[in-house]
Amino acid sequence: MPERLPDAALRQALAISVDAVICVDAEQRIQFFNDGAARTFGYDEVEILGEPLDRLIPARFRHGHKSHMRRFGESDSGAQRMGERGEIRGLRKDGTEFPAEASIGHIKLPHGHLYSVVLRDVTERREIEEVNTQLVRNLRNAVTARDEMLGVVSHDLRNPVNAVKMLAAAIVRAGDREMVPLDVLQHAGVMQDAAIQMDTLIQDLLDVTRIESGRLQVSPQPVALRALVEGVVETLSPLAHAGEVVLKIECPKRLPKVDADPDRVMQLLSNLIGNGIKYTPRGGSVTISAEAQPEDIKVVVADTGVGISADELPRIFDRFWQSKRTNRSGAGLGLNIARGIVRAHGGRIWVESTEGAGTKVHCTLPRASR
Ligand SMILES: Nc1ncnc2c1ncn2[C@@H]1O[C@H](COP(=O)(O)OP(=O)(O)OP(=O)(O)O)[C@@H](O)[C@H]1O
Ligand SMILES: [Mg+2]
Repeated sequence: MPERLPDAALRQALAISVDAVICVDAEQRIQFFNDGAARTFGYDEVEILGEPLDRLIPARFRHGHKSHMRRFGESDSGAQRMGERGEIRGLRKDGTEFPAEASIGHIKLPHGHLYSVVLRDVTERREIEEVNTQLVRNLRNAVTARDEMLGVVSHDLRNPVNAVKMLAAAIVRAGDREMVPLDVLQHAGVMQDAAIQMDTLIQDLLDVTRIESGRLQVSPQPVALRALVEGVVETLSPLAHAGEVVLKIECPKRLPKVDADPDRVMQLLSNLIGNGIKYTPRGGSVTISAEAQPEDIKVVVADTGVGISADELPRIFDRFWQSKRTNRSGAGLGLNIARGIVRAHGGRIWVESTEGAGTKVHCTLPRASR
């Protein structure tokens, strides 16, 4: 490295810079105008040297700019870098304006100040930012529209689905009292199951739209968590039995009560335990444990199932997300709803998992004061 770069090398570096580099004297007359400046502003060096800097600034900013330069010249600060000054506007020879970022520096010479400006035309960047902002806005609008539609459709579907559910149940019940042909009875049973499934999906969709818009209501009251766990385990045991998965409860008998909405906690538990059963191969187990902590009660649903890979873990609470590795039964809403329920109680939920070994879903619920 030479101790001091030759001036010619520095001038060449400045000359070929893509950014505009301009020097002005104390009267703000242009003394140096590089190639980048020529390309940016549309002037040749010869026609602009000696001209006032104002020619490069839109008329409405000229006064403000002059006083800014004066203040800057009087200040101790030797330089202001790009981004420190916010965006400015440049004026091209053809009269068009453009957004720019600029750094400015000054040095005091015996015959007055010399200012140097390095300026970058950011038109393209702004355009890209505007397109991106518009895309994000469109995307948000589309998501909102989808959610609204989901809400309306789900709501309107509830009554007809309930009618099918009730009528199918009535036929199944009639089979106990009178002679109903066997195939009719079987069909009614299938209809009933399908209608229950549809109803569950509709409820989930409605919950997801409520969670998304912050409208999920909970009515907390002091409840014994163990009883809720036992209730859910009892409901899900036919499913566990069919999948040859063992359900175990490890809740201390004297667990303090939680301050929670019992229906919502049952829904939370059945989503978590249901997942455990669904994603655990035959011969495995799902263990539900609970322990009291100073502020809350921690519940853990641990399975010995297929697990979730590290790259998938960040997505599992997303609406409609399902791993490619699992069989995609269901709608991908259970964990999103589970998180919505836990958060509505002021609790936290998180997941630990090892692919091929099992998953632990932890969540906390507030302790009741009595
Ligand atoms: N215990 C688990 N073990 C392994 N993978 C799981 C477990 N729980 C959730 N997952 C993965 O996360 C995805 C999302 O779970 P989530 O409960 O939200 O939806 P789902 O079970 O697919 O459908 P839904 O709950 O709406 O019926 C699942 O599809 C599965 O891939
Ligand atoms: Mg699920």
